[in-house]
Amino acid sequence: MFKPDNFKSKIIVRAQLPFYKLDPDTHFLLYDKQLESLYSEEFDLQDFVESFPHRLGLKAGEPLKSFRDFPKNLETVLKPWPQPVKRSHTLVALGGGSLGDFAGFVASILKRGVGLIHIPSTWLAAMDSAHGGKNALNMAGAKNQIGTFYPAQKVFVVKELLESSPRELKEQAYGELIKMALIGESQFFREIIEERRPVEDFMWRFMKNCIEDKYHVILQDPYESKTIRQTLNFGHSLGHALESHFEWPHGDSVLQGIFFSLEWSRYRGLLSQVGYDKIMSVISEKFSRGPAYEFRWYRKPALKAIERLLLADKKINDQGQLNFVFLKGVGKPSVQPVLLTDLLSEAKRQGWIK
Ligand SMILES: NC(=O)c1ccc[n+]([C@@H]2O[C@H](COP(=O)([O-])OP(=O)(O)OC[C@H]3O[C@@H](n4cnc5c(N)ncnc54)[C@H](O)[C@@H]3O)[C@@H](O)[C@H]2O)c1
Repeated sequence: MFKPDNFKSKIIVRAQLPFYKLDPDTHFLLYDKQLESLYSEEFDLQDFVESFPHRLGLKAGEPLKSFRDFPKNLETVLKPWPQPVKRSHTLVALGGGSLGDFAGFVASILKRGVGLIHIPSTWLAAMDSAHGGKNALNMAGAKNQIGTFYPAQKVFVVKELLESSPRELKEQAYGELIKMALIGESQFFREIIEERRPVEDFMWRFMKNCIEDKYHVILQDPYESKTIRQTLNFGHSLGHALESHFEWPHGDSVLQGIFFSLEWSRYRGLLSQVGYDKIMSVISEKFSRGPAYEFRWYRKPALKAIERLLLADKKINDQGQLNFVFLKGVGKPSVQPVLLTDLLSEAKRQGWIK
């Protein structure tokens, strides 16, 4: 029986897909159906998928994380599963963060917990969501309302799989990469500054930093019972609200949330003007990214709409406060209670909402 008491998953970094034998009677593959579009002569993905006699391809994305549709989706998953379902079985999740969140939840509740292996197919999932044991479903238009802590036993980080994904998926990971570079123990933001190559060519280099820095945080506070793990929510307060409101990709939304958090940190005097200018110039030069309120297509949401999403997403105490992650400098996140009304006023001051 699998006991999810160890938050340090075994990380297996591979140039190519893992072709070692996984017992076909006990391993079930759940994969993102979109990956079938990557099948080709040069890339053995099809052979890998078809090496699992028990498998299912599902359409990934936020709708797969719907709590309302969960019973129907679970029944669909169970049809091709080796019967009878046993606790000794392992669910192998091949896909991005949405499929990983869904699969992690399924693995955690099926027979009160079956085995779990993640093979992330997006950069964001490989550097972030596959690690740390959080999974989640969305409810009533708000993100990640239902979920469990259930770390994978193994996470395969496969370079050829990530490199085969389209450019926009790589770009969607910039938010989480920049987040770890700014808050992480190894402070690799400084190394990003030194990088001469374009970002597409140096993402793989920092994968190890992202993963190690995330485990450094998680292992100190696996169940987020202190404020240590909350530092990983840097950029996520406004980020999640924008993601739900606009249906933007997760990573893009987090990056916008990071811009908001950086400016608020500067405005409060926690982050020096010099530090703020440096960070903003690196993000714009290396990643060609800036706050979305400068874009012409951006239409501001109403304060009430964002307030509703924040109330659903965040834990607000009786004093109307929530914990917000500020940045005091590279490698120095700081979790501080703020009033929800202050957060909304600041979002208004910065021009994110009307
Ligand atoms: N559990 C956690 O700790 C955690 C952390 C961060 C994010 N998340 C969650 O992760 C999700 C975002 O993950 P994501 O960015 O990987 O998005 P995703 O899983 O929704 O994938 C994005 C799109 O890319 C497609 N896709 C996946 N891999 C592909 C590939 N190799 N080639 C071509 N297309 C591919 C998918 O079908 C989908 O259309 C959000 O739901 C977010 O809440 C969870």
